[in-house]
Amino acid sequence: MRTRIGIIGAGPAGLFLAHLLHRAGIESVIVETRSRAAVESTIRAGMLEDWVVRLLRAMGLADRLDREAHFHDGVSLQVGAVRQHLDLAGLTGGKQVTIYAQHEVLKDLIAARLADGGEIRFEAHVTALDGIEGDSPAIHFTEAGDARRLDCDFIVAADGFHGPGRDAIPDAARREYQKVYPFGWLGILCHAPRSWPELVYARHEDGFALLTTRSDAIQRLYIQCEPADPIEAWPDARIWDALHRRLATPGWSLTEGAIFQKGIIPLRSFVCETMRHGRLFLAGDAAHIVPPTGAKGLNLAVADVRVLARAFERFYAYDDAAGFDTYAATALGRIWKGERFSWWMTTMLHRDPSETDFEHRIHAADLAYVMGSTAAQAALAENYLGLPFTD
Ligand code: DHB
Repeated sequence: MRTRIGIIGAGPAGLFLAHLLHRAGIESVIVETRSRAAVESTIRAGMLEDWVVRLLRAMGLADRLDREAHFHDGVSLQVGAVRQHLDLAGLTGGKQVTIYAQHEVLKDLIAARLADGGEIRFEAHVTALDGIEGDSPAIHFTEAGDARRLDCDFIVAADGFHGPGRDAIPDAARREYQKVYPFGWLGILCHAPRSWPELVYARHEDGFALLTTRSDAIQRLYIQCEPADPIEAWPDARIWDALHRRLATPGWSLTEGAIFQKGIIPLRSFVCETMRHGRLFLAGDAAHIVPPTGAKGLNLAVADVRVLARAFERFYAYDDAAGFDTYAATALGRIWKGERFSWWMTTMLHRDPSETDFEHRIHAADLAYVMGSTAAQAALAENYLGLPFTD
């Protein structure tokens, strides 16, 4: 098999890239370890930056999003029992918070890619990448037990934090930065009506809580927990008890419902600045992870491939490889700002058992400042809904 761009991973980075390349007349093949059903049902965050929504519309891929997504003019911040609305639309010239689950975006991108005649090989397990330092790299993988080889001009590893792509870059060539947080998130989906018209981010002495939505009948909620907690440590009654305590505000109560999905994730910040090695490029979670507070993961992944697609276009249309040399630096400018914002939202809103009393009070003051200052809210709004592009 042969293609121009071999993409590992049918997540947001890989699928957006395949679509952007297709629009530029550049063919690609995606190899994805999981089944289509697994990709389309993996529960992740659900907040899209304004420009991502506009990009989907410009690509003709937003019909279902426009029918089914939830558009909010702001979010609520809460400290103790005090809940406050932030008018994000008013602070950003009308940009809205778009809630549309990541796996719904993936369903739309997969269906459209296949309808365009694009090739996505599901349940294809990468065994090796070779030739990335030469001119003719290849992805070796197995499919139903058979060994296969995809020869390509370039490989893009959009295969997530645990994928094989990043490991193909020699250790000595890799520059990486990491912070692991001493807490995790427990996320649930439940059958319940909406309790509040917008997202609520709450800081509480017991730990963080977030109320978000999926539809009129399905709600998504998160609470800070111990990262090593087994899910069995959180029977439904304990989850609801924690949510009621952390989200309590006078004259309001959270509506409970049957929990039908729950899981715990650790929180981590990570950046591999070496986003290119020879003919291998990293994009999305393969190169960087953010803690979920603020839901920047998908948005940063799409921003990477926006830069990368242009570099490929420049190469194939004008035989100009300069975009490859500047890819990492251009993408990292936005990535580090996303890392900063996600870290800031996380430290401001969580109860960190390892922080000093001084740091605890500084983080409380950070939130008090945001809740009392229009200037601080404008900075939050700009980051939350998507920083302007400088390239
Ligand atoms: C969602 C998740 C987040 O981490 C966030 O900051 C906002 C929304 C969500 O799943 O809807």
